[in-house]
Amino acid sequence: MNEKRIELIKVTKDNMNQLQVVIVSTLPVRYPSSFYKSILKGSNVAYLAVLDGKTVGCVVWREEEGGSHLLSLGVYVLHRRRGVGTALINLFIKQCNAKDAYLYVSEDNIQAILFYQAFAFITRERVEEYYRGLVNTTAIKMVKNID
Ligand SMILES: CC(C)(COP(=O)(O)OP(=O)(O)OC[C@H]1O[C@@H](n2cnc3c(N)ncnc32)[C@H](O)[C@@H]1OP(=O)(O)O)[C@@H](O)C(=O)NCCC(=O)NCCS
Repeated sequence: MNEKRIELIKVTKDNMNQLQVVIVSTLPVRYPSSFYKSILKGSNVAYLAVLDGKTVGCVVWREEEGGSHLLSLGVYVLHRRRGVGTALINLFIKQCNAKDAYLYVSEDNIQAILFYQAFAFITRERVEEYYRGLVNTTAIKMVKNID
């Protein structure tokens, strides 16, 4: 798919509901309301991917002392392997401020780990008890140097 067909739209109060729907539909984690309030305050940055007028994915990140932290990235099942995730992560890599980017992914989420490896994220450490309420609570921390 031509990445240029994918529009990337910043999340505001007007399209926050669409972000919430993408997150609950694509990710197993449930975020508290403070996560969404932080987007309106500007401490979390969020974008939607829109294809032919339909929201198909999202990315959320936050600048932290240790680097740019990719918090959420999800694409609807029916729209995967068509470059939507690529458009979202490239936006994150382009816009994030730090020299290092990092994320946590469930160690059994092989598809996502392969996706991040395709963008030169490397495994830094294995973190037990990272997730609450999931069958597998172990996360892999992946990092990428951005220059
Ligand atoms: C991870 C995710 C965001 C990828 O989105 P996507 O739109 O399918 O990704 P792209 O089409 O841009 O894929 C880019 C490249 O990543 C790799 N990749 C993506 N999905 C893959 C898979 N299932 N298996 C192997 N490699 C994969 C491939 O190299 C792919 O390039 P190719 O299609 O030319 O081979 C999507 O699978 C998803 O939403 N998963 C569920 C939510 C999730 O786990 N998010 C991460 C939580 S930390």
